[in-house]
Amino acid sequence: MKSLSSPAQLLFPGIETPRSSPFLKWAGGKGALLKDLRPLVPAGCSVFFEPFVGGGSFMFEFSEGREYHMYDANNWLIDTYTAVAKNWEYVAEIIDTMPCSRDHFLKVRAVHPDSVESIYEKAANLIYLNKTCFRGLFRVNKKGFFNVPYGNYDRRVYDPELLKACSVALGKIHTISCQDYRRSLASVKPGSFVYLDPPYFKAGGYSDFNRYTASKFELGDQIELAAICNELSERGVKWLLSNSDTTTIKCLYSGYRVVEVDARREINLSSQNRDIKELVIMNYNPHD
Ligand SMILES: C[S@@+](CC[C@H](N)C(=O)[O-])C[C@H]1O[C@@H](n2cnc3c(N)ncnc32)[C@H](O)[C@@H]1O
Repeated sequence: MKSLSSPAQLLFPGIETPRSSPFLKWAGGKGALLKDLRPLVPAGCSVFFEPFVGGGSFMFEFSEGREYHMYDANNWLIDTYTAVAKNWEYVAEIIDTMPCSRDHFLKVRAVHPDSVESIYEKAANLIYLNKTCFRGLFRVNKKGFFNVPYGNYDRRVYDPELLKACSVALGKIHTISCQDYRRSLASVKPGSFVYLDPPYFKAGGYSDFNRYTASKFELGDQIELAAICNELSERGVKWLLSNSDTTTIKCLYSGYRVVEVDARREINLSSQNRDIKELVIMNYNPHD
């Protein structure tokens, strides 16, 4: 598919291309929290690291004009970002051949991502499944197969203008790499800033969502992550972390600045649990 002007741009040539923002729906996405996070992002840091990038709400919002390094343990997701950065038109061209039907959905879902060699095809499959599955999210089983049921929605799988804007934004990212957080955080230099949005510690309901990759993020990972945050503090690295409002998390980060924020929950089917608090923890004074 060629990078043509949108119908709106042809009619109104002055119209702006959309800003980059997540093109995937991701459990734990931080879109609704950006207004709370924005005033907490430290001024004066120009090198940012994000070890749990997920759907990329924070990255798309704050990467412009900065040296940005993004990572995630989900290699299907990272390959998708790499493919969109390199050639979003080719990804779109493949999606255009995929009919929105239950039969085709089941066919694509049955393909293991590791069996697909082309990152462009992998990206097309992920975007297609994310947008045609029930409630649009990403979840895999222990074997790494996508395992969300069909959604039967009549909607666009992708927005070409948005994908193009995301491609431009991703093209400016310094590092896009599939790494475990222990490895990506080992390379953070003093003076940098790290935004951490790990799978949340179990707080009931939606927060139990923990199937972003074939292996789960357990209590041991939360403990190790807190220890690494302590090391980052000693190395002169500023960090901001989101997690569930639980006693365990408060204990792990006692001594640090903690802000409670309201988070709208989209994955939990029980509406009464959708408005719950979560914690934003940092090792610096955002007003300094
Ligand atoms: C809460 S989500 C991040 C959501 C993201 N901030 C957004 O706005 O969409 C957590 C992410 O951590 C990733 N993850 C899970 N275990 C990991 C690990 N051991 N190392 C690095 N990333 C991991 C998951 O694949 C998932 O994308």
